[in-house]
Amino acid sequence: MCGIVGYIGHRQAYPIIIEGLKRLEYRGYDSAGIALYDGNSLNLSKTKGKVSDLEARSHAEMPIDGSIGIGHTRWATHGVPNDVNAHPHYSNSGNLVIIHNGIIENYDAIKKELINRGYTFQSDTDTEVLVNLIEEIQKQEGAKLGKAVQIALNQVVGAYAIAVFDKNKPNEIVIARLGSPLAVGVGENEFFIASDASPFIEYTKNAIYLEDEEMAIIRLGKEVKIRKIKDDSLVDPYVQELQMNLEQIEKSGYDHFMLKEIYEQPRAILDTFRGRLLSKEAIIKMAGVEDNMKKFLNADRIIIVACGTSWHAGLVAEYIFEDLARIPVEVEYASEFRYRNPVITENDVVIAISQSGETADTLAAIKLAKSKGAFVFGVCNVVGSSIARETDAGAYTHAGPEIGVASTKAFTTQITVLSLMALRLARAKGTISSSDFRRYLIELELIPNKVEKALQSDNYVKEISNIYKDSRNFLYLGRGFNFPVALEGALKLKEISYIHAEGYPAAEMKHGPIALIDEQMPVVVIATKKGHYEKVVSNIQEIKSRKGKIIGIVTEGDVHVKELADHVIEVPETEETFSPLLTTIPLQLLSYHIAVMLGKNVDQPRNLAKSVTVE
Ligand code: M6R
Repeated sequence: MCGIVGYIGHRQAYPIIIEGLKRLEYRGYDSAGIALYDGNSLNLSKTKGKVSDLEARSHAEMPIDGSIGIGHTRWATHGVPNDVNAHPHYSNSGNLVIIHNGIIENYDAIKKELINRGYTFQSDTDTEVLVNLIEEIQKQEGAKLGKAVQIALNQVVGAYAIAVFDKNKPNEIVIARLGSPLAVGVGENEFFIASDASPFIEYTKNAIYLEDEEMAIIRLGKEVKIRKIKDDSLVDPYVQELQMNLEQIEKSGYDHFMLKEIYEQPRAILDTFRGRLLSKEAIIKMAGVEDNMKKFLNADRIIIVACGTSWHAGLVAEYIFEDLARIPVEVEYASEFRYRNPVITENDVVIAISQSGETADTLAAIKLAKSKGAFVFGVCNVVGSSIARETDAGAYTHAGPEIGVASTKAFTTQITVLSLMALRLARAKGTISSSDFRRYLIELELIPNKVEKALQSDNYVKEISNIYKDSRNFLYLGRGFNFPVALEGALKLKEISYIHAEGYPAAEMKHGPIALIDEQMPVVVIATKKGHYEKVVSNIQEIKSRKGKIIGIVTEGDVHVKELADHVIEVPETEETFSPLLTTIPLQLLSYHIAVMLGKNVDQPRNLAKSVTVE
């Protein structure tokens, strides 16, 4: 994980790097650092803590002058989060500085070798080993910085996005990537380097995304030269025009990104529909599906691979695909799938779901599936991300940047894309009638308004949050399409409020979790009208008999659950198939308010990072 930012040009680098790091804190926020070259000396400041801590410290301990610099916000892998392990790291001579996102797996062997040659190390990081390896190669081979970086990278095993600066070559920064994202913003006689485009969006709309195994020398007054790390061949840079704008990556008056993103869902779902859901013509257009229709229709099964919230969206999709398109679906944790020698054939279609498009386990699962001949389809939010590029075809969710670590709009837009796909395939296979297809389309089109309505429960959810904020455990129950929503509700609560929560299929309660229920245990039960309602009501009765506190998520106008539950939160009525898009809203709000009331850092919960680019 980690976020990296660099600048070389005619402006002051410091504010660009600091502001850029703040935007990348979603990638890691346990320590931060910056190195600036002021024309004479290379100055460095780093600290445990957030970019705001770095800001305070750097002002006090270094000149913040200079138009070349690199900065880093860290999510620790090797070495605890402290001042010394924070990046950038100097080489032994003090001439080179490096920032790194990734892991050098064979760092230990290289470190021993360097120690034998007289090198000393301040930190416990793999990164400090890499910068000294580069320095050693410069010495041994008399190589220029770019060449030395290339030789070093051919010796290391692992993943990286790096930026290296040499104070003896102060008009260039050398960058490289393998497995961790890296973008270059191309301005007028200035360049920006970053893990994603958000740090430079107000300066330029032109970006080059480095591919895996590529490196570039970013030199003032010159074009960006990209080379393959392995064979040194030149690559033509492809300059993309960015669609993102500044407003999308700011809080726009909300207290937290998470709340903003919860409220963005009606708009985000509409954006997901755009150009795809044509209800008047009663058609769904999805180029990635149309172009590969045969693959989908002839598939023996669909295997969905994902992690975390995206995995929950995959579980919802399993219900939807099997129900509408009658295609068998298996949903796999990417992290398990990649290591368990799964049976995959050319007749399988694999759908990889990922908000960031950078999740290491999902990426590895895709590579494995491709190597076995399966067709792999990606459902990603981040345009141009590694997963979007690695898959054979795909569909973007178009949710816009999701910055809060807890996924909200990514989840609902993933379900939206997958619903559109399932409906399109169902129509092509003839597993639903044209009148049912039309009915589904009309209902789907109403979802953004209904999400808007579901959001109106916010104040009431806040009141409930205040009642239960001090509970130590929560149970979430749901059935059918809403079982994965129960899992997602529990994940949201635990990741941002650090309260233990478990999600279960409602009927599984009697096979164990029921033993946990007493008057201290809040149980959130999704009991919408069309989803095995009577059965779930029986479960609610079982909870009530054991004095559990019941928070029901019900369909508007429900009376039955109201009689039994301590609280009910209403959501508008819809097709059962699409109900997760509504029932998930109060659960997002519940976790948000509880976390805020407990004084937790909602957007940057402890130990987590937005994109998990390490195993
Ligand atoms: O970017 P991805 O969708 O691949 O990320 C997968 C998980 O890391 C992610 O969904 C995680 O579980 C969220 N923080 C949960 O809110």
